[in-house]
Amino acid sequence: MAIFEFNHPLIAHKLTNLRNKETDTKLFRESLYEIAALMVYEATKDLPLKEIEITTPIMTTTTKVLAKPVTIVPILRAGLGMVDALLDLIPNAKVGHLGVYRNEETFKPVYYYAKMPTNVVESKVIITDPMLATGGSIIYTIDYLKSLGVKDITVMCIIAAPEGLKAVTEKHPDVNIYVSAIDNGLNEHAYIYPGLGDAGDRIFGTK
Ligand code: URA
Repeated sequence: MAIFEFNHPLIAHKLTNLRNKETDTKLFRESLYEIAALMVYEATKDLPLKEIEITTPIMTTTTKVLAKPVTIVPILRAGLGMVDALLDLIPNAKVGHLGVYRNEETFKPVYYYAKMPTNVVESKVIITDPMLATGGSIIYTIDYLKSLGVKDITVMCIIAAPEGLKAVTEKHPDVNIYVSAIDNGLNEHAYIYPGLGDAGDRIFGTK
């Protein structure tokens, strides 16, 4: 298990767009997409390969292709904002949706929806959620996927709180987490600070 925090000037610059409360919905969505796209290369570096034989215009040779299917699982609704970046680079990936919202009094995850592709168990699953705050929704999602029999799980998020990272890694030490920035902590409403506010509201323009 590993936590991988990105240290890249393009990601740092685009994170400023996400954090700035003056950023409008269009720029917020674009910056989120671009950060997620920059993260995909690193977050998929452990995808297994298999050898196949093909014929080039010159000769027959062995070469490599992805050995297993990829399933992207956005945690509804903010995780949807990262899906297109993954699909643009892994166009054959399936998308399974998981609906979990946070009870704003207890901060505990409340499940309401799941729809997974039939081959999810054989897949490499990449969970997307921009904000890893308490870690409750991510832990719930990993528990759910493991209960189905999924073995190979990666998490991609944009901003994480140290408390949430600790909770996820203690419960699921086998899962790799890729994160653009680790912030200072959680405020009394369990929002990440300095953070970017409510990611779902900012992606969908609902506030
Ligand atoms: N979810 C969000 O959208 N933002 C936070 O800061 C924490 C959880």
